[in-house]
Amino acid sequence: MNVTIRGQTRHYRTVSFDAPENAVVLIEQRLLPHTFKRVKTRNYRETAEAIRSMIVRGAGAIGATAAFGLAQGARSFRGRNLQRFETHIATVYTTLKESRPTAIDPVNAMNALLQEMAKGQSVSEKQDIAFAAATRFADENVEHCRHLGDQGVSLIRDGLQILTHCNAGWLAFVDIGTVTAPLYAAQSAGRAFHVYCDETRPRCQGASLTAWELAQQGISHQVIADNAAGFLMSRGEIDMVIVGSDRVLGRTGEVANKIGTYTKAVLAHRHNIPFYVAIPLSTLDWDLGSGLEIPIEDRSEDEVLGAWGVLPSVKGKIGKRTYVRIANPSSTARNPGFDVTPPELITGIMTPLGIFKPRDLKKLRGKIG
Ligand code: MRU
Repeated sequence: MNVTIRGQTRHYRTVSFDAPENAVVLIEQRLLPHTFKRVKTRNYRETAEAIRSMIVRGAGAIGATAAFGLAQGARSFRGRNLQRFETHIATVYTTLKESRPTAIDPVNAMNALLQEMAKGQSVSEKQDIAFAAATRFADENVEHCRHLGDQGVSLIRDGLQILTHCNAGWLAFVDIGTVTAPLYAAQSAGRAFHVYCDETRPRCQGASLTAWELAQQGISHQVIADNAAGFLMSRGEIDMVIVGSDRVLGRTGEVANKIGTYTKAVLAHRHNIPFYVAIPLSTLDWDLGSGLEIPIEDRSEDEVLGAWGVLPSVKGKIGKRTYVRIANPSSTARNPGFDVTPPELITGIMTPLGIFKPRDLKKLRGKIG
């Protein structure tokens, strides 16, 4: 996506790889929207830590980061002993996989790499294959988002008022984004529409990241408190909901996404508002048979008990990034990071290959891959 800072516009990918330095290049998303900064992780452990600490976040983006992290780990191996190499790769895989549990994209991405790497005969062949396969995964992620734009653009009519939750934009993928792809395509087609960004407590990805992306892109939008959506729906001020997902069960059509998504789906159903989920193919999980089996990340209670922000700027200099305590000092908190929305509340799953009823995904497994 193009980013304009102090009048200078440049195109960036959220995740890329510096091959000569064997480093993964990421945008420090925790500092947005106040500071735009890119960072490099120098080894696979640093890459896993960047995923865990949410320097990089969003299902597709952590998928590409894990793919590059596996290639980075493979390329850092010295020697020719294949058995030792495989043991090393198993450690790299597990370290990256364990960095965040709910999104399936990192697992799908790394499994695709391992499948390709199995074709290599030597350590150096496997290292080259890993790098090529990670690059392909990242490029495919961009292509999937582009196709999502083609699939979804006709839904974005002139004058539409759209609600979105969390961030499934450019920053959550390698480029473009899933929810944002149809919006950007509709903008290119000259349509005018308005987006309500749920602030998405506790980490506020909607208020900080989606709102920043839409502002960069010049799309009309407003941030709303998570609790405001029902009121706006009841007044006819929301015509459609589009969200992303961290894992869609191909067998059941259940959708795991940022906490609060299920609430919005219930509200949309109550008000007869279409509810869409936009995903690349790497978000599909064909193994699990029930949403109850999806590992839901339990996050730190500090995220609920307080909030991060910046202090007012002084003499034009951006204020210091600070955590403030909001809740009663002696209270504790519970902080599930995701929830699961059942198929009957979902109008359609938007994929690069078409828009499907959630329960029809399984019939289309052959086509979807
Ligand atoms: O905790 P995050 O910010 O990594 O959350 C994941 C997500 O980005 C959202 O759940 C999003 O809606 C899924 S689409 C990438």
